[in-house]
Amino acid sequence: MIYVSRLEHFNAAHKLYNPKWSEEKNKEVFGPCANTNWHGHNFELIVTVKGKPNPDTGFVIDLKKLSTLIRKHVIEQVDHKNLNMDVPFMAGKLASTENLVMEFWKILEPRIAELSENEAKLHSLKLYETPRNFVEYFGE
Ligand code: NI
Repeated sequence: MIYVSRLEHFNAAHKLYNPKWSEEKNKEVFGPCANTNWHGHNFELIVTVKGKPNPDTGFVIDLKKLSTLIRKHVIEQVDHKNLNMDVPFMAGKLASTENLVMEFWKILEPRIAELSENEAKLHSLKLYETPRNFVEYFGE
């Protein structure tokens, strides 16, 4: 099994805020990330796909097509957007990196299977919110 990865990038604004809590409790739990008037991050998304190289191409998946797919269905939905207000699949959810990566999985997993005619599978998503804070998701 070979693991192939593609890195994509986007900028987005958000705030971490639980509407069930008071202003004080939100500040206490989320700190500056609860700032009322938003803040932004430069996100990096690493999409890893696994499979066996196709004998005709030598590729597990065509990375150019994978990049186009990620950009169209994920990056364009979130780039230069406010994750709390502008992104339909984040409506009603806390705009954490954890919740974001789980939504990306739902979007990408079936489309990667379709693109590769079920020869390659989404293996993991790694989403960097800052160079030091990142999450990794394997679909469960
Ligand atoms: Ni933040």
